[in-house]
Amino acid sequence: MRPPPPPLPLLLLLGTAALAQPRELAPAGTQCLGHECFAVFWASLPFSEASERCERRGGHLMTVRSTVAEDAIALLLQNREGQLWLGLTLSPSLSCTEPKLQLRGFRWVTGDRSTDYTNWAPSEKRCGERCVTVSRELRWEERRCEEPADGFLCQYTYGGSCPPLSAPLGVPVTYETPFGARGAEFTALPPRSTASVAALGLKLLCEDGEGAEPRWGRDTPGAWPCGLGGGGCAGTCAEEGGRPRCSCAEGKVLGADGRSCRSPCEGAQCQHHCVIADGSFVCMCNTGYRLAADGLSCEDIDDCAGEPSPCDQKCVNTEGGFECHCHSGYEMVEGHCERLPHCWNTPCQQLCEELPQGYRCGCRPGYAVDPLNATLCRLHCNSSECPPVCEDYGRCRCPDGFLLDEEDWLCMDIDECESGHCPFNCTNTPGGYQCHCPLGYQDRGVDCVPVLGGSDEEEFSGDTDLVLPTGVPSRPPPKAGRLHPGVLVGIAAGALLSLLAALGLGFHLARKRCGSHGSMEYKYSGPREKEMGLQPMPPAQKP
Ligand SMILES: *[C@@H]1O[C@H](CO)[C@@H](O)[C@H](O)[C@H]1NC(C)=O
Ligand SMILES: *[C@@H]1O[C@H](CO)[C@@H](O)[C@H](O)[C@H]1NC(C)=O
Ligand SMILES: *[C@@H]1O[C@H](CO)[C@@H](O)[C@H](O)[C@H]1NC(C)=O
Repeated sequence: MRPPPPPLPLLLLLGTAALAQPRELAPAGTQCLGHECFAVFWASLPFSEASERCERRGGHLMTVRSTVAEDAIALLLQNREGQLWLGLTLSPSLSCTEPKLQLRGFRWVTGDRSTDYTNWAPSEKRCGERCVTVSRELRWEERRCEEPADGFLCQYTYGGSCPPLSAPLGVPVTYETPFGARGAEFTALPPRSTASVAALGLKLLCEDGEGAEPRWGRDTPGAWPCGLGGGGCAGTCAEEGGRPRCSCAEGKVLGADGRSCRSPCEGAQCQHHCVIADGSFVCMCNTGYRLAADGLSCEDIDDCAGEPSPCDQKCVNTEGGFECHCHSGYEMVEGHCERLPHCWNTPCQQLCEELPQGYRCGCRPGYAVDPLNATLCRLHCNSSECPPVCEDYGRCRCPDGFLLDEEDWLCMDIDECESGHCPFNCTNTPGGYQCHCPLGYQDRGVDCVPVLGGSDEEEFSGDTDLVLPTGVPSRPPPKAGRLHPGVLVGIAAGALLSLLAALGLGFHLARKRCGSHGSMEYKYSGPREKEMGLQPMPPAQKP
């Protein structure tokens, strides 16, 4: 007995419930190529619902931009008859299709219009048909989006894929992709696909490689039987005493999962560089730094502390290096301090001559170095007449001790000897003069003074010549300052006479006043004045 058919309202209600919670459709066929999977779903749905089914599993309706995609469709349809939605819709800016355009005004669901391939069924301009289907003949046909088609094609794109597992003969492996495709025949498995190996009681997952290619793995660390996909080892798998174990190539170490291989430097906290050494790592530092006690960080080396110093003169340590500097008077030339010319920045008034160990100031013609200050120059003439030194504004000058002869336009030496500068003999020199003192006289500046008897005598014996330094201004002839001894004798005699006169007056007064102390002073002063006049005069002051 068949149950009676349910009344119509109940049927409608069931249908609504089924639409509200649609069962996940499994693809009837799948083609995975590299990083992409295409899947065919047979279900009578309008375009929008088909599109939503693809998106729910992380994909979108299929784009067919090349013959590769076309080949995938041919494999998926397997000669089955029907119209399948493609991911191509008429651009909202157009109301009708435009057969002259490559995509007839349509746009891929990915938002672009790029394609290397089209396969339109011949047609005229159509309006109201804003979606596209493909059939067994692989021809594209415009269709009203609201009108259900027989199925749809989805496309899923991934960052990579796991290869199918190599398994020993007779051990079946069942795969399931994240978009619900199940089977044993896959050329590539997208990340998050599972592989079930019932015979070995194993369930593996294609793990996203975080930048690297995805790899088969499982939560339990360590290798699984080597016969199945190499035990999951990134390196080599070997079974010792029935237990599979992974090992890594030299320079690599086994990761925490017991299957992956990593460089010992991976995750090492070296501040500058990590170097692999004997299955472990060693940190190294840039030049100018050394490894700190923690073996990871690097600290600056004081390059200046080393012996010998890396610099010629001054060394300044910097972060990771050092700088060389030169003392004042030197300059850096190709990394070395070189002496600037000695004459650089010297106080020479006129000229400077470079010497091996220093410099010497010089003077222009007509000048000579000042004997009192070697940096200065003064006018100088070495003979009885010299041309004057004329400045820019026509002002001409002669050295001291010379006079400008405006007739001959020459500086003429002044003959000081003619003016009686010296008490005895005198020699005139260019710009100066020389006094000659007889035995018993000592030169004192510009004249001769008698030498005192006693221990000093030897020092002053013989003629002592006073030579005025050339260029030192000639002093005016001495007048009252020093007198000739003969003159002194005359003065002394005069003084004696006046003294005698005073004495006479003194005695006269003394008699009048009947003697006093004061009269004794007069008596004494007489012989003293007399002595002074007769004996050589002591020097007025010690030199
Ligand atoms: C020489 O003269 C210069 C310039 O007038 C002066 O700066 C310097 O101190 C003098 N040197 C001596 C030793 O007197
Ligand atoms: C002056 O002349 C003399 C003799 O001619 C010479 O020896 C001397 O070097 C000259 N001095 C100067 C400063 O020119
Ligand atoms: C002074 O000159 C005369 C004549 O040249 C000479 O006989 C005399 O010895 C000189 N006297 C001195 C002190 O040089």
